[in-house]
Amino acid sequence: MTDPKLRVLITAEQIQTRIRELGEQISRDFPDGKLHFICILKGAIFFMTDLARAMKRDVSLDFMGISTYGRGKTSSGEVKVTKDLDISLEGTDVVIIEDIVDSGVTLNYLLHVLEQRRPRSIRIAALLDKPERRLRPVHVNYVGFAIPDQFVVGYGLDYAERYRNLDEICIVEESASA
Ligand code: IMP
Ligand code: MG
Repeated sequence: MTDPKLRVLITAEQIQTRIRELGEQISRDFPDGKLHFICILKGAIFFMTDLARAMKRDVSLDFMGISTYGRGKTSSGEVKVTKDLDISLEGTDVVIIEDIVDSGVTLNYLLHVLEQRRPRSIRIAALLDKPERRLRPVHVNYVGFAIPDQFVVGYGLDYAERYRNLDEICIVEESASA
């Protein structure tokens, strides 16, 4: 098994600059009230920790685990919550923090689940967006970077659990199974 070739698409510096801008924008959009970030495990961990520290105001943090079945085979991928939230959403402004929006199946499902918990509002922040791949409509309020339809790793994103700890986003150019 040979390692895949990685090509840098977005540098660590570009990521950090964009996250500082997003932190300022979200802080301006929510000047007061309770603001709550929900990190979708595991891909969004670094994005959430950096974005939270780029905020100009207090924000509470929670984590949610999700697994998706049937993606790629059917347009109705089934989603399951594998780790639920610890903190109630009632009356809070919520921002879902996601690594990448691809088909939109995960976020479409998650929005329906979380809306039932009576938050004051729900928005979505995604570091990356592959708009060409969308199967389900999702409005992403805060996008770090729109990227072409290519598989990427790093800064939280994995290929079979590898490469999450890269500080940049890379395109995977060859399959490891080749
Ligand atoms: P979807 O929008 O429901 O299709 O799923 C988005 C999820 O698929 C993300 O949270 C990632 O875990 C995973 N994913 C989609 N595209 C990529 C990629 O290019 N690299 C790594 N993971 C990806
Ligand atoms: Mg994910």
